[in-house]
Amino acid sequence: MNTRQKVIIDCDPGIDDSLALMYALSSEELEVVAITIVCGNVPVELGVQNTFKVLQLMDRMDIKVYAGETKPLVREYVSAQDTHGMDGLGESQIEAPKGYVAEVISAAEYLYQTFKTEKDISIIALGPLTNLAKVIERDPLALKNVNRLVSMGGNYKSFGNCSPVAEYNYWCDPDAAKIVYENFAELGKKVEMVGLDVTREIVLTPNILAYTKRINKERGSFVEKIVQFYFDFHWEYEKIIGCVINDPLAVAYFIDPTICSGIEAYTTVETQGLSIGQTIVDEMKFWKKDSNAYVCTSVYGMYFMEEFIYRIFGGEQQEIHKMLGQL
Ligand code: RIB
Ligand code: CA
Repeated sequence: MNTRQKVIIDCDPGIDDSLALMYALSSEELEVVAITIVCGNVPVELGVQNTFKVLQLMDRMDIKVYAGETKPLVREYVSAQDTHGMDGLGESQIEAPKGYVAEVISAAEYLYQTFKTEKDISIIALGPLTNLAKVIERDPLALKNVNRLVSMGGNYKSFGNCSPVAEYNYWCDPDAAKIVYENFAELGKKVEMVGLDVTREIVLTPNILAYTKRINKERGSFVEKIVQFYFDFHWEYEKIIGCVINDPLAVAYFIDPTICSGIEAYTTVETQGLSIGQTIVDEMKFWKKDSNAYVCTSVYGMYFMEEFIYRIFGGEQQEIHKMLGQL
């Protein structure tokens, strides 16, 4: 029997987080048991409201949302509203559904309680790892029964997006990232890292956006509203026509790990100095430590985009393949 995999999505919506939620909620392989919000792209309260906007679009207001940490463990909090807009959804000013608020208990409390009771749960983390680090600080064994942890974050051989060497999620809270990776080393587990080395290959172009609107006007129009700001940012800073959509790849990889290939290595994160937030991947085993991470290094980008379009917007897979082939 094809059982759905139970996942908690920990995120900071955020434009690409929103696309990732749409992908997860369109995938029958997943049972999204809850969504936990962390400070990152936007402050937590905005992240909560943006999540409700996506849940309303996807007709899934049944899913519980938990508000998490409002600042990183040590560093001053620096949002990414320059990239995602002050509202976190590209200044789209989409109305949040009225009367919806986060659950009473915090994300860290919910996660701690769930890891103690649920024996077959996984986490897809799409933002800074502050919520998870808080749970580990409370009980270093808390995540020992977690099935899988897939983290969109970090970078190995690809340049950073917050500094020459650091990716935003691990740069925003490097101490949390270090705690999570080193805890997984202690537990003999591996973080599955979907970093910039692979997500940079995933570009939502104006053509693809236009196609999605043709096959699903409501969802395509929602995406169009939230990505314009992101398109402008990508043209201004990286001369890209379209936008890199990092987070949905973490969801797609969770569902089908063959979408990426990678290496196992001991991995940790720098927490101070010029290269703060840098992911250190010891591929050549200088430190002779057991690997605590599977670091994705290549991706089947066309396959991802076919799945992204078909799952969220519908259409004919053959037609989608043809359209993408024409790009
Ligand atoms: O560096 C990209 C990551 O940081 C993405 O998850 C984006 O949403 C931001 O959280
Ligand atoms: Ca994110």
